Amino acid sequence: MKKRFLLILSTALIFSIMSGCSGNMKQKQGEETMNMKRTLFGEANSRQIYQYTFTNAGGMSVSIINYGGIVTHLMVPDREGNPGDVVLGYDSLSVYLENNSPYFGAITGRYANRIARGKFILDDVEYQLATNNGLNHLHGGIKGLDKVVWEVKDFIFPDSAGVILTYLSKDGEEGYPGNLNITVTYTLTNKNELKIDYEAVTDKPTVLNLTHHSYFNLAGHSSGTVYNHQLLINADKYIPVDETLIPTGELLPVEGTPMDFRVFNAIGDRIGDVDGGYDHTFVLNGYDGKMRFAAHAKEPVSGRSMKVFTDQPGMQFYSGNFLDGTNIGKGNTAYQKHFGFCLETQHFPDSPNQPAFPSTVLRPGEKYQTSTIYWFGVE
Ligand code: GLA
Repeated sequence: MKKRFLLILSTALIFSIMSGCSGNMKQKQGEETMNMKRTLFGEANSRQIYQYTFTNAGGMSVSIINYGGIVTHLMVPDREGNPGDVVLGYDSLSVYLENNSPYFGAITGRYANRIARGKFILDDVEYQLATNNGLNHLHGGIKGLDKVVWEVKDFIFPDSAGVILTYLSKDGEEGYPGNLNITVTYTLTNKNELKIDYEAVTDKPTVLNLTHHSYFNLAGHSSGTVYNHQLLINADKYIPVDETLIPTGELLPVEGTPMDFRVFNAIGDRIGDVDGGYDHTFVLNGYDGKMRFAAHAKEPVSGRSMKVFTDQPGMQFYSGNFLDGTNIGKGNTAYQKHFGFCLETQHFPDSPNQPAFPSTVLRPGEKYQTSTIYWFGVE
């Protein structure tokens, strides 16, 4: 019985992948419907870039492009059922290509976050990565995973639909050792989840830390600062950083600091007490490699709510501190400081140089596998 079900499931997957999804497709089962649409979004490196839009039975939709694996739109109904776009981004590919995107909606890596001076030693060999953030390496370097064209296959089932993105990052790319085969699967489900599954294998020992960099604003991407969002983070500790945002190596209690989000607090309440705003890794409680609750954000006016679940040890809470109005986004919106916030599930920054942090080394024969779920609703 189980075997037959799996056969049907894999046949459906093969069928949907082979069908190539030109135009619209629907999958129905009872009342549940998933919908998929693919349109040409432009060209990058002489390759066609497509925008895939998946809509679920509840009217939530996500648009994803195969450049940078970028989530360009995320439509979530508010308390009254009115859809609003809750992620910052651009209207056209050309603006993403102009290279001034602060990682809006992208997959970041090969090492998301910072590596001090772009250097690390692995098996007695010192590696020098590209430096692109002062003296440090940030989000994979000058041309990270947010700026490459991914191979893409779509899939659609009665309860879920999405894209499987693959990319081969060659040995030496941005200074990293090893040919790294990366697969990122985005899935929208009828339970209002956006699930991201990351997988990678290498042919040489390397370091790796992948994440997703959407800037959220649950009131809508053009609605202003995120100060009124209530945020709860499942973390008793955070990682203090030096002036170049490299961890000092300590894990400090959040208690008695503006980092204390163990109960709901408005993002704007204590942001002024943190130099520049929040840009810190939170040490998520109960790390054991399994999925667990990481954070809950809610916006009181729209009623929209988001929960994050992950198997990762940390989560970077970044409050859009470097936005300064020069990024002109969707609908001509000038994104100003603190107009969006990121909850980037990941390993700790600079782990390759911090022996006490959980390891980010991947060796040949091992499989890097991690998942994060962003769930949306109203309350
Ligand atoms: C991350 C970093 C920030 C900043 C943004 C991109 O979240 O932690 O310091 O670099 O990306 O602007």
